[in-house]
Amino acid sequence: MLRTLGHGIYPALVFAMSATAIAGPEEDRNALRAFYEQRFPSVELDAHGDGAYALDAAKREQWLEMEDFPPYEIAIDDGADLYDEPLADGSSYADCLGEDAPVVKQHFPRFDAVSGEVETLEQRLNNCRTAAGDEPWDYLGSEMSSLMAFIAYESRDEQIAVEIPDDPRAQAAYNDGKEFFYTRRGQLNFACSSCHVSMAGNALRAERLSAALGHATHWPVYRLKWKEVGPLHKRFIECNSQVRAEPLEPQSDSYRNLEYFLTYMSNGMALNGPASRK
Ligand code: HEC
Repeated sequence: MLRTLGHGIYPALVFAMSATAIAGPEEDRNALRAFYEQRFPSVELDAHGDGAYALDAAKREQWLEMEDFPPYEIAIDDGADLYDEPLADGSSYADCLGEDAPVVKQHFPRFDAVSGEVETLEQRLNNCRTAAGDEPWDYLGSEMSSLMAFIAYESRDEQIAVEIPDDPRAQAAYNDGKEFFYTRRGQLNFACSSCHVSMAGNALRAERLSAALGHATHWPVYRLKWKEVGPLHKRFIECNSQVRAEPLEPQSDSYRNLEYFLTYMSNGMALNGPASRK
């Protein structure tokens, strides 16, 4: 079931993927899905929502034991309390998030036509706060992560449905995120795609490299290493640092565009956050 593959085994496919550089988001998504389908014929595409644990039976066993007593449960409870606390002007997060609230995770990140930029769910929540007269939260802080954990939990099993509207600014944001993903950087000169596409499934030191498909399904995440629940952009910071590249600020333009691209790649997959990881 576990297959470790060397580099460059599928030159034809890699070529096919770079040839789609000028293609649209939907062609990109289909090409990436086809790539993983060929690379991991025995793994259902939806199973990649479990990250590396879809590709490593022994690690999966340990992980399932960890999920028996989910370490993110407290964050969900804290987040539920925060969600119920009225904002400074007496309004609620539900008022701000719209009629589907709190089941909204599947629609984020989204393109905001007013600012002309990608808006993540974390930003939306801080926008709800500041519009009501509250202070914004720290993007790496426990309040934001707890409220995100609650919303992720409520949104479980919804299919990711990120849209890239027919607006040149939205297309540009998507293309920027895609370029970030495929660009080599840092002293080690690795792109995100080097590890999570070309070498997906291989072992890197003690870790198994996950497929990028599913990278956006399960946030926020309780990591044993962090000893707390943290957001996707914290993982971006870590993966950038790992190749000795200068990490960016959480919620920076580049990271939001990267999230837009990555989440679009996972469109149609079921949300399964919050989750635990080592
Ligand atoms: C040197 C290899 C390497 C590079 C380059 C790299 N990562 Fe990672 N990444 C890892 C390892 C190792 C892990 C932990 C094992 C796993 O889940 O794949 C990880 C984990 C992740 C996860 C968490 C997966 C999960 O299931 O929770 C995400 C998301 C991620 N990386 C995104 C990125 C992005 C985006 C980039 C580019 C900015 C990037 N990575 C670059 C090695 C890398």
